Amino acid sequence: MIIRKAKTEDVDGIYEVFLELAKSEDTAAKKAALFFYKMRKRKKDFEINVKKELLKSIRKRNSLYLVVEIDNKIIAYAFANILNVKDNFFEVPKIGYFNALTVKKRYRGGKIGSKLNQEIEKWFRKNNCRHIRLEVFSNNPASKIYKKWGYKDVVHKMWKKL
Ligand SMILES: CC(C)(COP(=O)(O)OP(=O)(O)OC[C@H]1O[C@@H](n2cnc3c(N)ncnc32)[C@H](O)[C@@H]1OP(=O)(O)O)[C@@H](O)C(=O)NCCC(=O)NCCS
Repeated sequence: MIIRKAKTEDVDGIYEVFLELAKSEDTAAKKAALFFYKMRKRKKDFEINVKKELLKSIRKRNSLYLVVEIDNKIIAYAFANILNVKDNFFEVPKIGYFNALTVKKRYRGGKIGSKLNQEIEKWFRKNNCRHIRLEVFSNNPASKIYKKWGYKDVVHKMWKKL
């Protein structure tokens, strides 16, 4: 197993793993609210546009995009970036955004997610960033894992359909 920084040539491999994430998020959305699930209907050029976004993320400044490879195949990835957010009222510290973490289904439960989380946290610390935020569906089993890793449930995002 190799953990390394993502390269632009990895985009197809990352996309395959991303599709599994999108599916598990569909399930979480469906359980939370049917109208929210319906808002996830894919546009016509879904694949092309997702790959464009992935490339942007891989090339982004102040960011870390990691992939995990087994037998030359990408089976997991993590993506984080750091932002100096300006706030008119509060002295906000540097914020680390943990944007993505996904392990292919058949490799879950084998500590790969934990290893990626450690690498991302190491990078935040190295860059003097001590506050991390992420978003996860409340009913996604991953939210339990994040709590285990020390994340607190701070903001509840709520939705309503009229
Ligand atoms: C979240 C995810 C990346 C974790 O990766 P993983 O390699 O399976 O996790 P690990 O094997 O490192 O397990 C981490 C800890 O969580 C626990 N855990 C694993 N799966 C769990 C589950 N479904 N429910 C509760 N705890 C779980 C493990 O026992 C472990 O705890 P321990 O360190 O005390 O033994 C992986 O489950 C995943 O890809 N999920 C789907 C994608 C997703 O939802 N990502 C988050 C979107 S924000």
